[in-house]
Amino acid sequence: MCGIIGYVGKAEATPILLEGLRRLEYRGYDSSGVAILSDSASGEGSDIQTRKRSGRLDNLRTLLTENPAAGHCGISHTRWATHGEATDENAHPHLDQSGKLAMVHNGVIENYQVLKDHLEEEGHIFHSQTDSEVLAHLVGNAYEASTEKDQRRRLVEAVREALHLVSGTYGIVAMHEDSPGFLVGARFGSPLVVGLGKGEKFLASDVGAIVSHTTDAIYLRDRDLVWLTEDDFAIENVDGDAAEYEVSTVDFTPEQAEKGDYPHYMLKEIFEQPTSIQNAFRGRLVDDQASAILGGLGLTPRELRDVDRIVLCGCGTASHAAMVGEYLIEHLARIPTEVEIASEFRYRNPPLDKNTLVFVLSQSGETIDTLAAMREGQRKGHRVLGIVNSVGSTIARESDGGSYLYSGPEIGVAATKSFTSQVTLLTLLAILLGRMRHLSVDAGQQMLKELRDLPAKVGKILSQSEHIRQIALKYLDAKGMLFLGRQFNYPTALEGALKMKEISYIFASGHAAAELKHGIIALVSEETPSVFIMPKDSVYEKNVSTLEEVKARKGPVIAVTTEGSTELERIADDVIYIPPVSEMLSPILSVIPLQLLSYHFSVALGCDVDKPRNLAKSVTVE
Ligand code: G6P
Repeated sequence: MCGIIGYVGKAEATPILLEGLRRLEYRGYDSSGVAILSDSASGEGSDIQTRKRSGRLDNLRTLLTENPAAGHCGISHTRWATHGEATDENAHPHLDQSGKLAMVHNGVIENYQVLKDHLEEEGHIFHSQTDSEVLAHLVGNAYEASTEKDQRRRLVEAVREALHLVSGTYGIVAMHEDSPGFLVGARFGSPLVVGLGKGEKFLASDVGAIVSHTTDAIYLRDRDLVWLTEDDFAIENVDGDAAEYEVSTVDFTPEQAEKGDYPHYMLKEIFEQPTSIQNAFRGRLVDDQASAILGGLGLTPRELRDVDRIVLCGCGTASHAAMVGEYLIEHLARIPTEVEIASEFRYRNPPLDKNTLVFVLSQSGETIDTLAAMREGQRKGHRVLGIVNSVGSTIARESDGGSYLYSGPEIGVAATKSFTSQVTLLTLLAILLGRMRHLSVDAGQQMLKELRDLPAKVGKILSQSEHIRQIALKYLDAKGMLFLGRQFNYPTALEGALKMKEISYIFASGHAAAELKHGIIALVSEETPSVFIMPKDSVYEKNVSTLEEVKARKGPVIAVTTEGSTELERIADDVIYIPPVSEMLSPILSVIPLQLLSYHFSVALGCDVDKPRNLAKSVTVE
């Protein structure tokens, strides 16, 4: 949430920062800005030049074309508003009282009002409503009060001192006119990564912003404080002690983070699913044992055997994947499993027994509520495992083991390929645990075969994109939509409704289909289409009855069903077919028409598919 990139090196900073912001825009996109430290001409000091604009990044680009800012060191930010509306003034970077220090901030300073009141009493004048400007002033205050002669050291100490005064979360980068070519960053709760180039250094909220310049990265830990020049850097912690760090190699190429020939990231990511699903199970199927291997869990067979309860925790789409996981694990391994919304789990103080295994699921590995849920589980002495996509993310590093999705970067704000990969991984977990209990060899082998067949089946559904677009075009006037499914496809219904709301702004709600009669049926009308997710499974006939009840009340129906169920064409208004698949794996297929349906709705309604209003890809504030 909010994107940050800072640069120091030999190149002009502005184009590098704008390019980085373009790659980060999915983190927040209501305003953006840069501050560039001009090079000091002989005898003169450097100047900070700030350019900020509300709205999309193009507005800032235009401003910089009209009024360029030159220099080889700079910081920049793309914002997702928390405190204060999306205005030019509230956009980052913010300056301190002296106007000589600039800072970008990601996170929330919870005690900012008290600090602001205090600074105002001292005569500070603020130009924005943000908490971030208060932090810039605090650092500036500490800098002005310092007697340290070494100006770089003085800036580092001032940042440290100010951070001790704030409560909340931060990922920051600061620079000062007195110290050209010098950046200071720090993190607590908001991600920050250092990029190590040759004769240039970067600080960014996300490696995606720097991968076209360097693949050598250091993922900072909470309370790390870093300073950078073009040739040097050091990492300490906010208490002044030396900090340990590790240089990692970024695991994806800049091309993977581009749209290529697709009009939107979301469409690209939907179409990547045959590959991303395969990546999730590649090397993890063990044919001779009819089982799966998830080495990263770091649990011995005995420890896995002793697990008697599982808690799956996540937010948004990840929580829907977890719900499918609940059905899968209970069905295949007979282990009681519960899904906890991470934001509830973290404050609910749930009882966890010794043999309860906790998993957190997160595409980004940075969602603050999921991170907090993980830490809450760990605080109770539990081993918490992560199912994460972003390599090197905070959850990946702080969890006690886990498995990567290997989906490649997911940039479209609406999650797509991460859902199918999360369900694939949970299937592997269910098979692994099931085969240690009473899942037969035959049943295990059948599941492995089904998994291997998935990519081709997904490809077949993707080839119906145009048919699904035509269906979307019929319902653009819908006042609202219902998504209905049972058993394994109840979570799919929730996910379908979430996609529709996120990117088309059509109010949609997902329900267990049998709940229709308990209130939801009051919403059925000619203007409220229902999408039934009803593959030919053990509850198919029940779904047909519910569908009839909707039709009897003149509700239009779109049915997602299994090839061959042609009888539905007589009762449903529109039918989308998926290939036959085991009931347990059907969500991986049935969700794809729903992703495409919401995508085509969004495009036809003129919405911004990849950057839906009010949303951000990675929610790193509470
Ligand atoms: C945000 C995104 C959702 C995503 C959720 C969890 O709300 O808009 O698409 O499902 O965060 O994200 P995570 O990265 O933890 O999977």
